Amino acid sequence: MEDKATLKLANQQFDFPIIEGTEGEKAVDLRKLRQESGYITYDDGYGNTGSCKSSITFINGEKGILRYRGYSIEELAEKSDFIEAAYLIIYGELPTAEQRATYSDRVLRGANLHAGMHHLFEGFPPHSHPMGILSALLNSLGSYYPEMATNDRATDLANFDNASAVILSKVRMLAAMTYRMKNGLPAEYPRPGLDYCENFLHLMFSMPHKPYEPHEDVSRALDLIFLLHADHEQNCSTSTVRMVASGGANLFASVSAGVCALWGPLHGGANMAVLKMLREIHDRGDDGSQFIEDAKNGKARLMGFGHRVYKNYDPRAKILGKYSERVLRALNINDPLLNIAKHLEEKALSDNYFVDRKLYPNVDFYSGIILQAIGIPLDMFTVMFAIGRMPGWIAHWRELAAAEKGRIHRPRQIYTGANLRAYVPIDQR
Ligand code: CMC
Repeated sequence: MEDKATLKLANQQFDFPIIEGTEGEKAVDLRKLRQESGYITYDDGYGNTGSCKSSITFINGEKGILRYRGYSIEELAEKSDFIEAAYLIIYGELPTAEQRATYSDRVLRGANLHAGMHHLFEGFPPHSHPMGILSALLNSLGSYYPEMATNDRATDLANFDNASAVILSKVRMLAAMTYRMKNGLPAEYPRPGLDYCENFLHLMFSMPHKPYEPHEDVSRALDLIFLLHADHEQNCSTSTVRMVASGGANLFASVSAGVCALWGPLHGGANMAVLKMLREIHDRGDDGSQFIEDAKNGKARLMGFGHRVYKNYDPRAKILGKYSERVLRALNINDPLLNIAKHLEEKALSDNYFVDRKLYPNVDFYSGIILQAIGIPLDMFTVMFAIGRMPGWIAHWRELAAAEKGRIHRPRQIYTGANLRAYVPIDQR
């Protein structure tokens, strides 16, 4: 294989090294392009730009492959669980039984909030969006652990193990507290003996007079959703976490920024948008056929379809599609929205508009149906995505922070504004 790429610009020739990843992905290393030629690369939306080297997650979008630290998502979904996958993603190896027990214990012990933090919820109006609350409170959380959120890289790295367990644990508590605050319910506290997802469901849904007894299929479904969302390499929110971290910001501040980036409907907010879309289709008596036509004519967007990276089936959607039927059956729910989703999928997969553009269902297409079935309110769907994505954000923060030669992320631009103009005083304009 060639070990360099040659670029001709204005009659001059420039050589650039080729770099190759462990799965054979190749890139032209253009870091010296501007310095040597005066040109920069232009790649709106970064569809073709490698912003870092990373050993966390591998995706082959053409073949529909997703692996965490070399383990296939299908095998992890079948044999592992969220906390084990979180450990794998953050530390690079599957935990031993002892490491697993210590880690689970650390996460359990980190759950309770400082009493002062409870008052922060009171400052939010009841209609506040849970994603706004989550981002604000994750950032505030750093103030309660000043030794872990110093913005001194060496200190923050030395306290990483504690900080990451605190965040992974408390993100669940913050989400549940938000739900309870919005519903006027008193706070619950985690119960030893329950696993991560069982405890989350207990924190959300237990009533003072009636503890919530999680149905095995419900907690397993939630665990699967978290596991399937746990990392997805350089997506919008993870790139945001790395961008913020590259300036030297601590873990709390960086993941808080990740929550904001995830919020939008083209990213994590798509799970809410899918369910809204399915409800609208249902309410207008359409079986999905008219909506497909509207999407083709640019009048609507088929939410939960398409992906920047996957040009084949999103493997997470395949797993969740199958699982959604199982959950609804186990809970004895006959949800007409599932039939509409299946019909939309069938229609789109055989329609040239979607086939030609390689648009397939993505992870958000079926997750909303499961979340609705287990009682998560619509405005908290994206919060569920954020809880699931937390290990990925944490791992990427660590990878970037621990890198020997890290540089602040600072893209360039092609300026298209006005040329130099003379200032005109206000009374002469
Ligand atoms: N419905 C209808 N047409 C679509 C859709 C869709 N969902 N997605 C893409 N297209 C069309 C788009 O209009 C364009 O057509 P044309 O070539 O005629 O202009 C073509 O397909 C290429 O689309 P694009 O917008 O250039 O693709 P992108 O890579 O910039 O965007 C996306 C990817 C995920 C933002 C987009 O597919 C989308 O908006 N999907 C719906 C929202 C969604 O489900 N987002 C969740 C993504 S998965 C979870 C996550 O990782 O955040």
